[in-house]
Amino acid sequence: MPKAIQITEFGGPEQMKLVDLPVGEPGPGEIRIRHQACGLNFIDVYQRTGLYANPLPLTLGMEAAGIVEAVGPGVTHLMPGDRAAYASNPPGAYSQLRVMPAKTVVRLPDGIDFETGAAMMLKGLTAQYLLKKVRPVEGLERGDHVLFHAAAGGVGLIACQWARALGLQLIATAGSDAKCQLALDHGAAHAINYKTENFTDRVKEITGGKGVKVVYDSVGKDTFEGSLNCLRPFGLMATFGNASGPVPPFAPALLAAKGSLYLTRQTLFTHIATREATQAMADDLFAVVESGAVKIRIDQRFPLAEAAQAHRDLEARQTTGSTVLLPG
Ligand SMILES: NC(=O)c1ccc[n+]([C@@H]2O[C@H](COP(=O)([O-])OP(=O)(O)OC[C@H]3O[C@@H](n4cnc5c(N)ncnc54)[C@H](OP(=O)(O)O)[C@@H]3O)[C@@H](O)[C@H]2O)c1
Repeated sequence: MPKAIQITEFGGPEQMKLVDLPVGEPGPGEIRIRHQACGLNFIDVYQRTGLYANPLPLTLGMEAAGIVEAVGPGVTHLMPGDRAAYASNPPGAYSQLRVMPAKTVVRLPDGIDFETGAAMMLKGLTAQYLLKKVRPVEGLERGDHVLFHAAAGGVGLIACQWARALGLQLIATAGSDAKCQLALDHGAAHAINYKTENFTDRVKEITGGKGVKVVYDSVGKDTFEGSLNCLRPFGLMATFGNASGPVPPFAPALLAAKGSLYLTRQTLFTHIATREATQAMADDLFAVVESGAVKIRIDQRFPLAEAAQAHRDLEARQTTGSTVLLPG
C-alpha cells in the first residue's frame, strides 16, 4: 500500500502521521504519478497549522517530481513513463503515489534530476513571477536595488541568483551572518543580518537615502512596517508570505503617509491558474536552471517518514536553500 503523510487535526508537527493511502485510477483531466522526491515549503506549515484551511484529513505537500504512471481521459500533454514535476493545488505531494489534476504538471527536462525538480518548482516559479511580473509602477532597470527578505531560504537563494542574472542589485536580509554570506555567495549585492542590524537604516545607507523601488517580503508580521520604510515614493510592497505570522490589519492611509506606496499580496496559484501559463513559467525556470545562471541548492534531505522533523527545522529557521523529502 502506498504511504503518505497525513494530518487529521491542525496543529504542530506531531500531527503528521505516516499512513497507508490507497490510490485509484486517474479520472478526466487527472494523472497518477509515482513520486521520486517531494519538496518542502513553508506553505506546508501554514496548511498543517490551519492558517490556510483545507478539509481534513489532509495529505500535506504542494511540490514533487516523479514518473507519470497513468493518464486520465482528456490529458494530452503527458504520457505514462514521462518524467514530470509540479507545484500544485490541492495538497497531497507528501506521498509515494497520488492521483492529481494534470493541469499544473509539466514534463521535466532530461537534464534536471528528480530531486532538483522537487526542490525548484514551487520556489522557482515563485521567484519567476516575483522578479518578472511583480514590478513597481516605475519599472525596474539593470542596476536597480530590490530588497528581498529571508534571502538564504528556498525561494530566497533562487531569487538572489535570478536577480543577479537580470542585472538587479538584490539587497538580502537573513537571520545570521552565515546565512548572509550564503546569500552573497549566490548573487546578492548586499546582505543584512536583520537579527542584529536595523534593516531599514541599512537599506537607506546602501541606496544613498533613496530607498528601493520594491520590497519582496515573505516574513510578514515582523518586517512589514520596516519594509514600507525602505520604499521610495511610489514604491511597491510585495508581500507574499507569513513566516513570522500574518500582517495585522492596517489603515490604507499609512501608504499615503509613506509616499503614495503600492501594496500587493501575491500567490503563485493565481499565476499558474492555466496550463499554458504554468508551462510558460516552467519553461522560463528550466531555461535559467539549464543555463547554469540559477543553481538549485538542496541543503536538507529527509526520508518521507521524517517529514515532521523537516517541519521542525524549517520553522526553527535551521534550514537554508531547498529541502526534499524522499519517498523511498
Ligand atoms: N505567495 C506565494 O506565492 C509564495 C510561494 C512560495 C513561498 N512563499 C513564501 O515565501 C517564504 C519562503 O518560503 P520557503 O518555503 O522558501 O521557506 P524558507 O525561506 O526556506 O524558510 C523561511 C525563512 O523565513 C525566515 N523567517 C523569518 N522569521 C521567521 C520566523 N518567525 N519563523 C520562521 N522563519 C522565519 C527564516 O530565514 P532567516 O532565519 O534568514 O530569517 C526562514 O528560514 C515563506 O514565507 C512562504 O510562505 C510564498
